[in-house]
Amino acid sequence: MNNLESILTENRVFQPNPEFAAHARIGSLDAYNALVAEAQNDYEGFWARQAREFLTWDTPFTTILDDSNAPHYRWFTDGKLNASVNCIDRHLPAKAQKVAIIAEADDGSVREITYQQLHDEVAKLANGIKSLGVTKGDRVIIYMPMIPEASIAMLACARIGAIHSVVFGGFSAEALRDRINDTGARLVITADGGMRGGRTVPLKSAVDKALEAGCASVEKVVVFERLGNAALNAGTDVAWSALIADKSTTCDPEMVEAEHPLFLLYTSGSTGKPKGVQHATGGFLVNAALTNAWVFDLNDDDVYWCTADVGWITGHSYVTYGPLALGVTQVMFEGIPSYPDGGRFWQMIERHKVSVFYTAPTAIRALMKLGDDVPAKSDLSSLRLLGTVGEPINPEAWMWYHRVIGSERCPIADTWWQTETGAHMIAPLPGAIATKPGSCTRPLPGIIADIVDDEGNPVGHNQGGNLVIKKPWPSMIRTIWGDDARFQRSYFPEKLKGYYLAGDSARRDDDGYFWIMGRIDDVLNVSGHRLGTMEIESALVAHPLVAEAAVVGKPHDIKGESIVAFVVCKGDRPEGDAADAMVKTLRDWVAEQIGPIAKPDDIRFGDNLPKTRSGKIMRRLLRGIAIGELPQGDVSTLENPAILEQLLGK
Ligand code: WT7
Repeated sequence: MNNLESILTENRVFQPNPEFAAHARIGSLDAYNALVAEAQNDYEGFWARQAREFLTWDTPFTTILDDSNAPHYRWFTDGKLNASVNCIDRHLPAKAQKVAIIAEADDGSVREITYQQLHDEVAKLANGIKSLGVTKGDRVIIYMPMIPEASIAMLACARIGAIHSVVFGGFSAEALRDRINDTGARLVITADGGMRGGRTVPLKSAVDKALEAGCASVEKVVVFERLGNAALNAGTDVAWSALIADKSTTCDPEMVEAEHPLFLLYTSGSTGKPKGVQHATGGFLVNAALTNAWVFDLNDDDVYWCTADVGWITGHSYVTYGPLALGVTQVMFEGIPSYPDGGRFWQMIERHKVSVFYTAPTAIRALMKLGDDVPAKSDLSSLRLLGTVGEPINPEAWMWYHRVIGSERCPIADTWWQTETGAHMIAPLPGAIATKPGSCTRPLPGIIADIVDDEGNPVGHNQGGNLVIKKPWPSMIRTIWGDDARFQRSYFPEKLKGYYLAGDSARRDDDGYFWIMGRIDDVLNVSGHRLGTMEIESALVAHPLVAEAAVVGKPHDIKGESIVAFVVCKGDRPEGDAADAMVKTLRDWVAEQIGPIAKPDDIRFGDNLPKTRSGKIMRRLLRGIAIGELPQGDVSTLENPAILEQLLGK
């Protein structure tokens, strides 16, 4: 049974655990309904209350929502605040000695950083980058391993009003260069390397390569000595330790307007190059803090662990900003779930007594394959809540997570959201909302989600359609950096009545529960990583031997989706050994152009590609061929039907 079928027939319901609900921040359906009603009756008042309750403002706001330049909505515009103050300073009176970050390195060594230490390190680095000339509004690229210094770098930027853009350490030098140039960053903060699964990740050499290839805006590179082998380039490079050596642990925070950009984060779209999603300081922090409180129910005595990398939005909202804004203790992990063995996650939960654990379906499926006796070796009794994010979770993996990891005791929060939404949009409040395996359940209070047809009209129950959000919310994307037109085109297409178009299809069942079906655009979701088919195609055709390429996704039982590329080479179609060699060449090439996560799993060569008479590649047919099916249905518009059999290998 494939995922879609299993989801359509799923009808198990799990009521909130009463013991959990008794202590939860939002502990009943009535409490949830009351919040929903509050938002319905006074939408702006509801969000103003959340913004005041969850954040500390230096200048209180009087304007709540400014829609005068819609769809570029603005929130809390006349308020001022600083993100690092909200994540650190305001906790110091009560919690200076509380551990903020328990950092476990790839090799298992552990460091603990208190809120006071976090404050001091952030202040020193902030003073350091200030001394390099970085000021409010400047862009800073952060290209770091999953170590506390990644969060410290982000918070140091926020402290002085610089706009950070974190680039995932798995992206290549090419991808890094594109992002540097799109942001016009003056500074890059990196490390001499990272460690993952016992192997080093050569971050610094990728930065060198990017800069050699041309990054005119970059003046300085700060290098954290993670491995202790940094070779510094005279003129540009500054060792992190040297930069902060003489710096004060006091750094007056720059109080910025609520709309001041906190960060840019690049993500893939259906066309063109990755887009720099721009988030605003105030609105982003409201939803990041609120969802960590409501959905993860985080409290003072929790030990929270989100396994995402800070290179993704999940790492922004649920590693760096959200949990720190609430002043909780969190685990940060440099390595990978399979090293030194597949019990690593469960051993870490036992070691650090993790109570709230948030990971991706792809990790759950991979670990499930190893069998129940692997997690059984660890004491998981500290857990009280489990979360998942990144892609639809199939009921089988959900049930395993529930039964084997959560001992049928822990609620599961399947959280639907996106880089653009900044924080959870549809997810169960675990003390209030019953769960169903494979459903992200119901929208959070204040989030007006719906499913509509292509004209923006609501569809009936159980009918698939476009997932939209009908009203602006504080942590929504403000624009695509440098491309307002693309922002409007992508997210607020004219036909849709001003609704935010998520790009996912979904259906809603008779209980009002949302079931995400997948992307409606040419975006793939590989192990929870978002990749544009166009991006991979552009990388392939940039190879001198490639004439044309088309990329589609194919269901994969661990990764969710795998990447299949159909390639037309210049000259003869490669066969036999030549084809094998070409496959390797192209996989390596894509890894170099984008990163290893974008490597096609399967590459097929054809004399040409299936196209309509007007020259449009028919991806629908290629998706069928990718799973070994000769397309049923209408192929009459096809220019060259014979190509289908060749690509199928028949
Ligand atoms: C896309 C967003 C959200 C942070 C990580 C990914 C898919 C995300 C779920 C979920 C089904 C999900 C959607 C969405 N997605 N969470 N719980 N159930 N699908 O962020 O890279 O911006 O990707 O991931 O397709 O549009 P992203």
